[in-house]
Amino acid sequence: MIPLQIAIDGPVGAGKSDISARLAQELGLVYLYTGAMYRALALACFRNGIGYKDAPRVRPLLEKYRIDLTESDPKSGKAFKVLLNGEDVTQELFQPEIDKGSSAVSTIPEVRRFMVKRQQDMASNQRVVMEGRDIGLRVLPGATLKIFLTATLEERARRRHELQQAKGLRKSYAEVLQDTRDRDLQDSTRQADPLTKTSDAWELDTTGMTREQVVERIINELKIRHLI
Ligand code: DC
Repeated sequence: MIPLQIAIDGPVGAGKSDISARLAQELGLVYLYTGAMYRALALACFRNGIGYKDAPRVRPLLEKYRIDLTESDPKSGKAFKVLLNGEDVTQELFQPEIDKGSSAVSTIPEVRRFMVKRQQDMASNQRVVMEGRDIGLRVLPGATLKIFLTATLEERARRRHELQQAKGLRKSYAEVLQDTRDRDLQDSTRQADPLTKTSDAWELDTTGMTREQVVERIINELKIRHLI
């Protein structure tokens, strides 16, 4: 029997991580946050002083560093834990520098091929909610349900701004709006598998919805389609 596999793609700030983690918890599925793997690679570049788009120097890092996504430590407040050669780097992955670096490193085609293969192995025969940019397109093309989660640019920037303020970062809303616009542009115009909504994906615009409402709406959709 094919396991229930839910693919969630969409632009930065659409609420993918939060929604995916909650959905996985509600349905008892494994939550796989693929962005964390690109972030961990960006951190490896940063630590080694390697430019995020310097493909010949980034490539060997894929062999040198093992990136693992594991179950979270309940105290961490995160739904996952990321190991870089066994070291827990979860807390370091969400600095603005690594935000930008992960988007840049993900434009390298060999990096994408490597990550996609690893992610497919991780999901194999598992009941999962997998979240990223190319899950429906490349990682799980046969996913049970493909969701394309969106929200307006302004709402996504507002959510990111709120999160950053809570973390004590002092960027203005205007700056976060511009960062969000830049990330959208890089993620959707890169040559290798740019962020796109596949024709078989169900689009859910979360503008003005609470997290609870979004999770409820998705569970409802799974029921309507007789998937759960
Ligand atoms: O989901 P996120 O914003 O944490 O991801 C960080 C970057 O990684 C994002 O800007 C693009 C890249 N990414 C990707 O190219 N493919 C994925 N499946 C997940 C993330």
